[in-house]
Amino acid sequence: MIPAEDLQCLKAIALRGGCSGPVFVSTQSIGTMLAISQQTASRRLKGLESAGLITRTMAADGQHVTLTKHGEEELRKEYQEYCRIFSEGGKSYILSGAVVSGIGEGKYYMSRDPYKEQFKIHLGFEPYPGTLNIRLSPSSIPVRKKIDALGWTRIKGFSTDGRTFGDAKCIACRIGTISCGIVVPGRTHYPEDIIEVIAPIALRRKLGVEDSDSVTVEVGQ
Ligand code: CDP
Repeated sequence: MIPAEDLQCLKAIALRGGCSGPVFVSTQSIGTMLAISQQTASRRLKGLESAGLITRTMAADGQHVTLTKHGEEELRKEYQEYCRIFSEGGKSYILSGAVVSGIGEGKYYMSRDPYKEQFKIHLGFEPYPGTLNIRLSPSSIPVRKKIDALGWTRIKGFSTDGRTFGDAKCIACRIGTISCGIVVPGRTHYPEDIIEVIAPIALRRKLGVEDSDSVTVEVGQ
């Protein structure tokens, strides 16, 4: 494995086209790209050459630099590792927390037919009337924020009997092998440490949990 700073320098050259053919660089421009001094940039280029990662030909006001096959391979290895980190396949997020009681609102909302129908379509099950509220452990809060960026499904609000029911969003998740969903109401102020989970069955009974017992929810592949 080559040092991280060498890899950064190889990347800077490659971004200028150094994998395809010689690119003209000055130590000053490489220094600026990598936020290092001209002297350090000069030393680094020399180092890359001795390690067989680039070839250089000197010119009066700079040098022509090309990545060697070895240099390109090192960069590609790094790329493949990033692919493993960011590839969607196999990626999942784990949230853990403790069961808490709400104020019985979940049951009221989850019993509305228009919501029930949409959850059936998008999550594949008709939800048990209620939501299992989970207070996330502090270490799960950053994970919860990442989940925000995943593909949520919009659940449309509706009006009935002179009452308006707002939009919500949901995303599929699992508790053990049970297919569930996280539901977030469209309201703007929503506590960031609480999630509400819906499932085809009564989770408290099935999992044998009560308030303050811990549960783990998995989102993703
Ligand atoms: O708001 P609160 O948590 O009091 O209750 P709710 O959302 O109206 O749900 C009624 C009860 O069912 C609560 O005790 C929930 O924790 C529970 N529940 C469950 O066990 N399994 C589900 N799939 C949904 C709710």
